[in-house]
Amino acid sequence: KYGALATLVLQNTFLVVFMRYSRIVEGPKYASSTAVVCMEVLKFVSCLCVLLYERNFNFQQTIADLKTDVFGRPDECLKIAVPSLIYTIQNNLLYFALSHLDTPTFQVGYQVKILTTALFSVTMLGKSLSKIQWISLVLLTLGVAMAQISATSAKDEGQNTWSGFVAVLMAACTSGFAGVYFEKILKGSTTSLWMRNVQMGCSSVLLGVVSIYWSGDGESVMSNGFFYGYSPLVWTVVILQAIGGLVVAVVVKYADNILKGFAASFSIITSCILCIFFFDFKPTFLFVTGAVLVNYSMYLY
Ligand code: C5P
Repeated sequence: KYGALATLVLQNTFLVVFMRYSRIVEGPKYASSTAVVCMEVLKFVSCLCVLLYERNFNFQQTIADLKTDVFGRPDECLKIAVPSLIYTIQNNLLYFALSHLDTPTFQVGYQVKILTTALFSVTMLGKSLSKIQWISLVLLTLGVAMAQISATSAKDEGQNTWSGFVAVLMAACTSGFAGVYFEKILKGSTTSLWMRNVQMGCSSVLLGVVSIYWSGDGESVMSNGFFYGYSPLVWTVVILQAIGGLVVAVVVKYADNILKGFAASFSIITSCILCIFFFDFKPTFLFVTGAVLVNYSMYLY
């Protein structure tokens, strides 16, 4: 549990910094929707490898289990296609948001997912929250708002800060819902985590391909090729995001979604420090107050 949470802090820190950098660096621009597909394929293959490993590399047994749990359970696959659709939208929104917001602003805005996760945990999982926990959620929202005001008043050219912020807030809503929905499915049955991930991966890969067209990248992929603009940096982002997805699944199984949110909050501090060194990020007083409030609310919670 704690190993997975610590890995998530590290992964979160580096992912957002690299993802942001990959969107602003000079040179040919890759289509972010193709990166989402690569990430889904990578996760899918990794989960198949884990299934094989769990069965001591017995291919026949693995195929038999896949037949029973994936091809033989279309109802379960359909149920899990809901979070997979939502995550596909979310993963595309994250690239969009990080194209328009600097890393610390993105990180602080994305903390709203703690609030949405709590709301969905209460309504869908029947969890109850204490008064202090509700107060901490209000403080969290305040802190996020402060950091947002600070960011929109220091706008860079070529960036659409408002649409970036709307995207990050939408991603916070999808994150809360999909995370809790996945937790409910996972903890409500005996199907293993990795089998669940394979069930989810089938629809995620398909939906990822569809999202290339939704997001309007279809034409550029047709004319420039799928891997246009792919540098080692882009591959690093893809791999880091795939690792993150797998670690999230482990965290949801052994801890819960709310603790997952705490790990993400903590990574604000670590990625801000990286940004001060790498992107010449100068935190304003309002931003620091907002970030402190976000982290204090996390402690209170
Ligand atoms: O920010 P958040 O914690 O909502 O991010 C969740 C990430 O984990 C998404 O990129 C999603 O695709 C991934 N995930 C996954 N497998 C799961 C649950 C989440 O790959 N079972």
